[in-house]
Amino acid sequence: MTAHDWVLADAFDRAAPTYDAMVALSPGYHEQLRTAADALVAGLPLDEWGTARVLDLGCGSGASTQALLDAWAAAGYESGSIAVAGVDASAGMIGEACRKTWPAGMDFVVSDAVEYLRTLPDASVDGVLGAYLLRNVPDRQALVEEVARVLVPGGTVVLHDYSVAGSRRARAVWAAVCHAVIVPLAAIKRSDVPLHRYLYTSVRDFESVADICRRLQEAGLTDVRHRSYRGWQDGVVHTVAGGRPA
Ligand SMILES: C[S@@+](CC[C@H](N)C(=O)[O-])C[C@H]1O[C@@H](n2cnc3c(N)ncnc32)[C@H](O)[C@@H]1O
Repeated sequence: MTAHDWVLADAFDRAAPTYDAMVALSPGYHEQLRTAADALVAGLPLDEWGTARVLDLGCGSGASTQALLDAWAAAGYESGSIAVAGVDASAGMIGEACRKTWPAGMDFVVSDAVEYLRTLPDASVDGVLGAYLLRNVPDRQALVEEVARVLVPGGTVVLHDYSVAGSRRARAVWAAVCHAVIVPLAAIKRSDVPLHRYLYTSVRDFESVADICRRLQEAGLTDVRHRSYRGWQDGVVHTVAGGRPA
């Protein structure tokens, strides 16, 4: 198989049955998703009925979707008052998400994220979460511009991903964790090893947090800010948030 034949969605299809078990071994994975989801919920402009329409782009097996629902409940809102569309290019990952039990108002769609956004009217969603998505999207500027277009005034986007560009320490930590832990674990857990090698190279070659912030600003989003996390993910895992001016 050449690099050209390798299709990311197919690799996620192959990894889907073991995806939840793999991320369960990643310290802080769910807590960090929850922090990103809390930032999104805190920035949602609720309508007069106190409801919100949210997209979880690259929702995968639903870990980030569950984080959104948990953040919504922790903020004191009723579970039926949020509508979430989880969108993912991998049918296998969406299949894993659909196997789980969800409250009313959830919808899971197999689609490329940019193509899905292009089907939506202007100013039609209150919030967008993209957890571990941006790095995987070929046309990142199109994604960010489409997100800015579909957000209502006052709406919020949160992007959460690995980025090590510009930090020698973060690059060294990422290489060590991937070579010593993540790729060997993928083999032990019988997950998709080429996907986990791609995880290493895609993060190694991904843009910096400053570049991501600049993308959001160039798309007209404001109040752009970012944070990282404790532990080995310090300077490696980042949450970037921004909003459409009200
Ligand atoms: C690492 S998983 C993250 C899943 C979930 N957000 C989480 O935090 O656990 C990345 C997901 O993005 C999806 N993905 C990658 N590129 C995509 C694209 N262009 N459009 C939609 N989904 C995409 C993959 O299929 C995969 O399920």
